[in-house]
Amino acid sequence: MDNQWYKTAVIYELYIKAFQDSSRDGRGDFAGLTSRLDYLKDLGIDCIWMLPTYPSPGRDDGYDVMDYNSINPEYGSLRDFIVFLDEAHKRGIKVLIELVLNHTSDRHPWFVEAKKGPQSKFHDYYVWSDTSDKYSKARVIFTDSEQSNWAWCAECQKYYWHRFYYHQPDLNFDNPAVREEMKKIISFWLDLGVDGFRADAVPYLFEREGTNCENLAETHDYLKELRKMIDDNYKDRVLLAEANQWPEDLLPYFGSGDEFHMAFNFPLMPRMFMALKQEHHGPIVDIINRMPKIPDSCQWVIFLRNHDELTLEMCTDEERDYMYSQYAYDAQMKINVGIRRRLAPLVENDRRKIELLYALLFTLPGSPVIYYGDEIGMGDNIYLGDRNGVRTPMQWDENKNSGFSDCKPSMLYAPVITDPEYNYNAVNVNAQLANPHSLLNFVKKMISARKLYNNSLIFGCGEIIFLYPENKKILVFIRRYKDDVVLCSFNLSDTPQPVAIDLKEYEGYEPIEIFGNTKFPSIGALPYLLTHSPYGCYLFYLKKHR
Ligand code: GLC
Repeated sequence: MDNQWYKTAVIYELYIKAFQDSSRDGRGDFAGLTSRLDYLKDLGIDCIWMLPTYPSPGRDDGYDVMDYNSINPEYGSLRDFIVFLDEAHKRGIKVLIELVLNHTSDRHPWFVEAKKGPQSKFHDYYVWSDTSDKYSKARVIFTDSEQSNWAWCAECQKYYWHRFYYHQPDLNFDNPAVREEMKKIISFWLDLGVDGFRADAVPYLFEREGTNCENLAETHDYLKELRKMIDDNYKDRVLLAEANQWPEDLLPYFGSGDEFHMAFNFPLMPRMFMALKQEHHGPIVDIINRMPKIPDSCQWVIFLRNHDELTLEMCTDEERDYMYSQYAYDAQMKINVGIRRRLAPLVENDRRKIELLYALLFTLPGSPVIYYGDEIGMGDNIYLGDRNGVRTPMQWDENKNSGFSDCKPSMLYAPVITDPEYNYNAVNVNAQLANPHSLLNFVKKMISARKLYNNSLIFGCGEIIFLYPENKKILVFIRRYKDDVVLCSFNLSDTPQPVAIDLKEYEGYEPIEIFGNTKFPSIGALPYLLTHSPYGCYLFYLKKHR
């Protein structure tokens, strides 16, 4: 299993800018992050996924890259990055960085040159047209800010193609030089020792007339080429795909085990929130049953929240309307096709619901992602514009600037959260470390429970078998890896619920409750009865009687 570490990994997603400032300039940096590695080690995570750290004008929070081969000086130097990487590795923590393939910033020297016209060798690095009506079947992604995927360049009197902000021109992957540039960039970071990449916006690399310009065969061929290049030259490095797509379109990103090692399960995410509101197991069961079987060496990556909006792109119109009505009752909470809120505010800071969602995250198939701050139930600020409301400074303690930075408060890149319910005075790491019943300690407990009894393998690699109790408010499934079996049962409702589970297949097994190591009555021929408290969950290891 050693070279498949990603299959059992717990991933922690963070913004370097938001984590810890050591230089008192109001922004986080590598030295700061390095000083907080012991916290992450103690939390029990296996891998850090770091949001972009490249030099950038920061108009899309670093996804607008100006230089792929260095570190944004605001965050430190390349040397600081290497020290951080070594220190993470010393603690057994892997590091994934961002690979922004699809586009650059319009301030990237390639684009600055490209704009000069066809005589520039960089002109063909981007996608140009004399008209703005090519590729008209491609949807606009940032619907709140862009009307078209074409923008006019006054300098070279042509339109250029962009799938995201107008200041993020798409690279032209039909140009072999672009394809080679990306390979060089990948090698640069792998040579420095990173463990892999979260590859941004991969469905959109190529454009073809008459298609929606997503998931094209050419795109998959190129991604396979990148994978081969990595496998041929490096050991144990991984690629994680950001492809916000329906289940059937996600499968090709795994190829036959020769494209991505991992891909986010975008369709599952909103359905966990849906199931909770509807108090019905249907949305979760249906989508997981619809997920295609992926090659053995591959893995889903599952998440509750991330740095973007809670995207509702992989929902039907009806589901989307429902999600907006339930989770974005204030128009300010909406952005593009989604909801810009953190985990705790989404569920009205109901600790029972947060714990239930975490229990789902840690037991459903895939490697779970924790978004920084959500382990302590941080709040958000929906008035900060774009998706910045979920990107505020990490809340470490009750001191000035929440212990994030010693700068003047007005210098902070974003204000810390001070609204009464989520005020950093109370919602912070220090306070929660000191309280055995805090959310932070619950999350730690979940992570270690996952690792018990070979559980990382059960949850990381085991199959999932849904059981269908008559009471639809209860979600029940078995996770099974070889001889290890875990029974998971969740009450998705606000009231106590009984459930009768058909466990005939496990007659004679003894359920051991995972958190308390408590023996429950053995399973007999009749349905197994459980009584759930509101939003309660049970995890039982099923021990075979010898
Ligand atoms: C991805 C990122 C998002 C970014 C976009 C454009 O979707 O997650 O934050 O804005 O790509 O790079």
